[in-house]
Amino acid sequence: MQQNTKSRIVISGASGFIGSTLAQSFIALGHEVVGLVRQPENMQENGVKYVQYAFENTEIPKVFQAGDIFIHCAYSNTTTSNVQSIQATKALLHLARKNGVKQCVFLSSIAATSHSGSSYSLEKSTLENAFQTEGDIIVRPGLVIGKGGLFYNTFRFMQRRGILPVFGNGKQIVHYIAIENLVEIIHYLLQQKVTGTFYAVQEKQSSYLDFYTAVGQKTQRKIRIIKLPYWLILLGVNTIGKMVKLPITKDSIKGLQQIPQLDESLLKQSVYPFHLKSLSEILDDFQG
Ligand SMILES: NC(=O)c1ccc[n+]([C@@H]2O[C@H](COP(=O)([O-])OP(=O)(O)OC[C@H]3O[C@@H](n4cnc5c(N)ncnc54)[C@H](OP(=O)(O)O)[C@@H]3O)[C@@H](O)[C@H]2O)c1
Repeated sequence: MQQNTKSRIVISGASGFIGSTLAQSFIALGHEVVGLVRQPENMQENGVKYVQYAFENTEIPKVFQAGDIFIHCAYSNTTTSNVQSIQATKALLHLARKNGVKQCVFLSSIAATSHSGSSYSLEKSTLENAFQTEGDIIVRPGLVIGKGGLFYNTFRFMQRRGILPVFGNGKQIVHYIAIENLVEIIHYLLQQKVTGTFYAVQEKQSSYLDFYTAVGQKTQRKIRIIKLPYWLILLGVNTIGKMVKLPITKDSIKGLQQIPQLDESLLKQSVYPFHLKSLSEILDDFQG
């Protein structure tokens, strides 16, 4: 992506937290954005051209043109559809390449590993391998802080219920990044025309307990911290999750049990020439 030339960018999951924020950031710079979404009829006029797309579709819309940038943000958290979303993503990637897309970006995760036991991690790891050819950018964000995604679901849950369930001893490391920094990183990597795997994480980490205690102060209500063993939380999610919408799933708890060690050599190449906001800086600006 050249700084002063206009690009055409196809974004899957353009209705989601990260996809929609990215789409608007490119529109603001005057680029052409095509958003792949499940329900284009529900999308507002905002400069993005929306096209219907779902992992379940047997036919992929002909959206790619030579020279495009493709950013894959679509993700389904219904564990039953893992195999389907992997196959569908590979097919989408194949079509993008066949049509001469010049840069592909995959929104992976710091959890991308084949041995954590969570299907989320396994899906990310499998798809990283599908993308990992010359010319692609794989971005592994930590927990993305902004008005969407897992962070915001947890924030809203704490705000509504006044409780924070803490897993085990609460000392698990939380790697995080502000949504605006994640967007900046993706723009930067595209401009630099680099390829490979890059983390998007603030260098200062926090324990789960410290992280959500700080976040809890933003809810403007007293938050009761409830420390629970993993097995009890799993049981609770299994039973309560059938009646009430919870911010976490059985799978995300499995992921939390095995926070991955970040790869040192990848961390060394994930350095950016701009400031990444710390948790206190993010929360100072955060209007829940
Ligand atoms: N948010 C984070 O903290 C975080 C951290 C690390 C990595 N990531 C990764 O970043 C990517 C985007 O995350 P996000 O937070 O933006 O998630 P999100 O808000 O849940 O967005 C997911 C997107 O995928 C679409 N989608 C869901 N099921 C689909 C299906 N069956 N077929 C096609 N599209 C489907 C959703 O469309 P609908 O609007 O129609 O549901 C939505 O546009 C994901 O791969 C996620 O794993 C996120």
